[in-house]
Amino acid sequence: MKEATDVFNHWAHLGKDEGMERGHASAVNEMIDVAMERVLTDRVAFSAVDLGCGNGWVVRKLSQHPACVEAVGYDGAEHMIEKAKEVDLINAYHCAKFPDTKPDKTYQFVHSMEFLYYLKDPKNMLQSIHDDWLEKNGWAVIGIDHYAEHEESLGWPEALDVHMSTFSEEEWIQMWKDVGFQEIHAWRANAHDGKPGTLAILGKKS
Ligand SMILES: C[S@@+](CC[C@H](N)C(=O)[O-])C[C@H]1O[C@@H](n2cnc3c(N)ncnc32)[C@H](O)[C@@H]1O
Repeated sequence: MKEATDVFNHWAHLGKDEGMERGHASAVNEMIDVAMERVLTDRVAFSAVDLGCGNGWVVRKLSQHPACVEAVGYDGAEHMIEKAKEVDLINAYHCAKFPDTKPDKTYQFVHSMEFLYYLKDPKNMLQSIHDDWLEKNGWAVIGIDHYAEHEESLGWPEALDVHMSTFSEEEWIQMWKDVGFQEIHAWRANAHDGKPGTLAILGKKS
């Protein structure tokens, strides 16, 4: 099977990152709105990091929030990061592979869309998000389109020739509990007209 980062590096060359941005925007907007209600409950400003940020569009979106003091993106596809840096000289973008990469600081808000299930051991990454990336009392929100109840998505690993870790909604939620997240909330973002929507999960590091 191909490496996910190689596939998405190629997608960036083909301009398919922009299609992903359009396709993910509604769910991500909803995820950020729901998360911000919690993030801004006990603070007036927040720092944010987007893991598997692609071309960095969510980093730029977060940086425009009036309460955001820092927004940073990480992705393992070199050309995604090159594209992010071409259009944005203000926010920081890092080309880095997970799960090996650990941050040199913690953040108050971790966002990730359509990244976690490309890893062989997503629970290990979720543990690292909780332990290494998040500040105490910080919040994470993660969006997943490939899950057992989304039948159409079960054909994606073969279609893309890329590894995807497949879990049910209940298994994903249990993972969040196991790694120590509190105040977990899970819902289907952007579910409409019979479409299953994005499995969105958020939680707090207490
Ligand atoms: C489906 S894309 C989503 C990109 C972006 N979050 C968005 O919504 O447009 C998945 C991203 O995860 C990155 N990725 C996948 N596996 C990775 C790994 N092991 N380390 C770092 N990045 C990875 C890919 O390079 C790709 O940009």
